[in-house]
Amino acid sequence: MLSHKKGKSATDAVVRFLNSRVPGYSWVGIYMVEGEDLVLAAWSGPEATQHTRIPIGKGVCGYAAKTGRTEIVSDVSKDPRYLQCFISTKAEIVVPVFKGGKVIGEIDVDGDRVDAFSSLDGEFLEAVAGKLGPVC
Ligand code: SME
Repeated sequence: MLSHKKGKSATDAVVRFLNSRVPGYSWVGIYMVEGEDLVLAAWSGPEATQHTRIPIGKGVCGYAAKTGRTEIVSDVSKDPRYLQCFISTKAEIVVPVFKGGKVIGEIDVDGDRVDAFSSLDGEFLEAVAGKLGPVC
């Protein structure tokens, strides 16, 4: 079995990579499921978020964790589920991370322009999540 420490270094590496290498990925976080909540495990971006713990079912993040489906929000100002973190955020994508068929966490990416994310970003992040799940 892999240690928690190994999972932590994997999540740290993924957020750093996505934020620094993918154009338009302005802020990247990974939340892990803890009981009925999502808890921020790693993040990379210009500033910290106040949303370090989100109840499953709340916000775009909580919704994706509940349904196990990728959420692409083209314009956060038009989505009533959206929990605001950064004034600069215009779009968001949230991709669940699975292990053993269960949602164990998710990758959350904020973008600074409307329509920042396409279905290709969804496919890409689902592939990343697919690699991450087994090592968390
Ligand atoms: N916007 C998210 C909350 C997390 S922050 O974007 C970092 C949501 O609506 O769930």
